[in-house]
Amino acid sequence: MTNFEFQEFQAGEDFAITMDERDPLRRYRDRFLLPRTTGGDCVYLCGHSLGLQPKTTAAYVEQELKDWARLGVEAHFRAKHPWMPYHRLLTAQTAELVGAKPLEVVVMNSLTVNLHLMMVSFYRPTKERYKVVVERGAFPSDQYAVKSQVRFHGFDPATSLIELTPRSSESCLRDEDIEALIEREGDNIALILLGGVNYATGQAFDLARITRLGHALGCVVGFDLAHAAGNLLLKLHEWGPDFAVWCSYKYLNGGPGSVAGCFVHERHARSWDLPRFAGWWGHDEGSRFEMGPEFRAMSGADGWQLSNPPIVSLAVLRASMDVFHEAGMEPLRTKSVSLTGYLEFLLNQNVSHKFSIVTPHEKERRGAQLSIRVPEHGRALCERLAQEGIVGDWREPHTFRIAPVPLYNSFQDVFRFVQRFVAAIG
Ligand SMILES: Cc1ncc(COP(=O)(O)O)c(C=O)c1O
Repeated sequence: MTNFEFQEFQAGEDFAITMDERDPLRRYRDRFLLPRTTGGDCVYLCGHSLGLQPKTTAAYVEQELKDWARLGVEAHFRAKHPWMPYHRLLTAQTAELVGAKPLEVVVMNSLTVNLHLMMVSFYRPTKERYKVVVERGAFPSDQYAVKSQVRFHGFDPATSLIELTPRSSESCLRDEDIEALIEREGDNIALILLGGVNYATGQAFDLARITRLGHALGCVVGFDLAHAAGNLLLKLHEWGPDFAVWCSYKYLNGGPGSVAGCFVHERHARSWDLPRFAGWWGHDEGSRFEMGPEFRAMSGADGWQLSNPPIVSLAVLRASMDVFHEAGMEPLRTKSVSLTGYLEFLLNQNVSHKFSIVTPHEKERRGAQLSIRVPEHGRALCERLAQEGIVGDWREPHTFRIAPVPLYNSFQDVFRFVQRFVAAIG
């Protein structure tokens, strides 16, 4: 059996071993450097925070360092992969990864910088339509960015932000509540800005539906896909948001602080009248080196670039994107659904008042991550497990985040985690 989608989970370790033996993607684990403790390989379940290093990364970086040493400035044109068009090496794979056209994506800057650049162009508040819809408890950087943009336009965040809030005693948002709020406030909403997957709860949103509804009511729609890129199957072009941004150091294994991604829908590719913050790398390539004083944007997402890109960081990302491309997002997602379902199944075998799963159960409403609420002593528990080589992460006030990643995690990783977690929580 090569497809485990319909597999009934079983509780014993034999099941995990069998699943790993049947896993068509199992060879990819060996393509990554797994952190080690004195006891052996870690059980690393933290790819939602920092993805692991592919074994080929060093060679990709070494190539650029060698070309720099060998050629100096000439490497812009004569390197094995010339630096001048280097970022283009990532375009096709990035487009494939997020379901976009090559014209619609670019790899540049970091996520928050890209979010600001996008809001400069796409958050255009007027006296009537100035509000921004966000999730309550959106990632802090997004909250800071949005509030600062709102203030920048002379509005007050207290009256301009509409926070989507779960019902009392619930942790996740209901689709119908999201829709009701957008419908109710529609005429006043300038921008709907949601995460593809909420970083704290692991809830995935129906991005297609939200986009459709937002657009029907005249709102701009943008997404922070930090926890969705390389995790969920995305169809950005088809779903049609105006923009999206994501970082590459989580599921994409692009390395700490690595270069981020940005999507601008094709319908804006030649919207020359959109306000934007400009830099020379977004200027028309044909005349960039004429060094003229007037900015002429390139078409598509490329036109939002500011600076010439960091080649070494792009080299790190290329190593990982080549692995993604080879493995394919569809098989990865199929395995991911099964791995995370198995994690949930095992946790549910150990019903306890000491923890509960916050992330939705339905596979359409989550990605790889499960957020486990541990109301008491959770941080200490997380730290104790880390000392034993079981790596997840802790988010205040009571969330233990765990993500089995299909590229390098196994069913046995999940089994070992649950065994240790249940023993440690007592
Ligand atoms: C959902 C989300 N948005 C934004 C950020 C900030 O990313 P950056 O530091 O690359 O700007 C993060 C970082 O973890 C994140 O998880």
